[in-house]
Amino acid sequence: QRPGHVSVVIVGGTGDLAKKYLWQGFFQLYINQVSSGNTFSFYGGGQSPTEKATPVLFEILKAVSCSKDVSQERCALLKDQFLRLAQYRQLKSLEDYQDLAKHIEQQLQEEGMTEAGRLFYLSVPAFAYADIAEKINSSCRPKSGAWLRVVLEKPFGHDYGSAQVLASQLRSSLTEEEMYRIDHYLGKQVVSKMLPFRIQNKKLLDPIWNKHHIERVEIVLKETLDVKGRIAFYDQYGVIRDVLQNHLTEVMTLLTMRLPKNVSRSEEVLGNKLQILSSMLPLGKNQAVIGQYQTYKAEVQQELNKTKDHVSHTPTFAAVLAQIDDAQYEGMPILLISGKMLDERVGYARVLFKNDIFCVQNHNNVHCKPKQIVFYFGHGSLQYPAILVSKNLFKPALVDSEWKEVTEHKDVNVFGLPISDFYIQTPMEQKEAYAELISHIFLGQKNSFISTENLLASWDLWTPLLSSLASTFPRIYPGGADNADVLDIHLKGKDVSYNNEVVIISTDHLGG
Ligand code: BG6
Repeated sequence: QRPGHVSVVIVGGTGDLAKKYLWQGFFQLYINQVSSGNTFSFYGGGQSPTEKATPVLFEILKAVSCSKDVSQERCALLKDQFLRLAQYRQLKSLEDYQDLAKHIEQQLQEEGMTEAGRLFYLSVPAFAYADIAEKINSSCRPKSGAWLRVVLEKPFGHDYGSAQVLASQLRSSLTEEEMYRIDHYLGKQVVSKMLPFRIQNKKLLDPIWNKHHIERVEIVLKETLDVKGRIAFYDQYGVIRDVLQNHLTEVMTLLTMRLPKNVSRSEEVLGNKLQILSSMLPLGKNQAVIGQYQTYKAEVQQELNKTKDHVSHTPTFAAVLAQIDDAQYEGMPILLISGKMLDERVGYARVLFKNDIFCVQNHNNVHCKPKQIVFYFGHGSLQYPAILVSKNLFKPALVDSEWKEVTEHKDVNVFGLPISDFYIQTPMEQKEAYAELISHIFLGQKNSFISTENLLASWDLWTPLLSSLASTFPRIYPGGADNADVLDIHLKGKDVSYNNEVVIISTDHLGG
């Protein structure tokens, strides 16, 4: 793309997400672009009046930081420049957006710059999207030749029908090309390396990446926190809509999709993802276990001002068995598991192989330790993001030059195995998912965003299950690490059967 002036507008610029990740991500972008010939202005927008919100915005901006490779002096200079380029604007009425457009045009004239593009990041509740998109469309489009990109955060609807309504509202203001639906999991370092890893190790993986050799796939996000403080949102959504329909589904598609010839060709990547989503078997009620942590009910009553007899059916835990209906994966169990108030904080995707391959013969004994590939997103016993491959499987090619092999082993166990049983690769430097995705948006790379078609295909998969579970009361689990026995009583032995195979959804995930 040609260099020029870029206007970045965060609508909801003083909100939690902006404060925690977005401004830091845009500062990182600014640092990377500072000598590229592009110039920037940054606008934090919101409902509050300018006098009130300006100091709040600048408090947030002052907290941005540089990576280790930038000297303190240089960092101070860059921060100072960044702050000078930023301002708060009230963005409420159509006139506010018209004024913003006038301001941008004035800025361009003063600088004598051509315009490269306008990036609007909507960090606001989804019900406001259609209205803001309309205002951007009618008053803030750049002149021809420059791009418009509008970033949207989930939730993208509540089910298939509502997602479709929202999608068509957005489509009346924005083109598909202009919409960037974000799923921050796609910016996580390990998640973004799943396809490159599969491609790099294609020759070794091709023969075993199928139902004949894979025992099962587990895609897991376990969290220890409760949802206090965000119950008004959470009680409407629950864990399936909050995490499984998006983050875990994206990970599942990356693991199982046909490999693209080129990972940066977004049509091919998104098309191959769509193909997998469209070949999933429908999810039925008997393929899911749902749970709710014990104190959730009281939290709902308190935060939503409900009476003591109010009950909520919202699951805070779900384990779902998914299956792909094609020749390669037919019958291969894919477990998607997530919950709040569990025994540990960890996220991973784990491919477990059957033991009939790659056994090691040693002094006439055959050792068949579990063989697995683990994409470890972070936290948990390992504490850092990594890709692990069982040593009795194969030695993987280094995923890329920004990654290193871990050779010093600490006394750590993963999945009950000593860490020394694995070849491990980890990024040289840990990067924040949002900063990564912000740089993709700036470069116009759409392969790590959700297209309308793929979004609807995912809702098409999850909606029937959500409807069939709507009146099911989740099993109660105590939550936390102290209640393993009780958890056993409540949840043990829930079997999920499919095609005469029985998969036990383990209760280990729920505590102890
Ligand atoms: C968010 C969900 O999308 O993802 C949260 O709304 C969840 O409920 C979070 O805690 C998990 O993301 P991460 O990056 O902390 O694993």
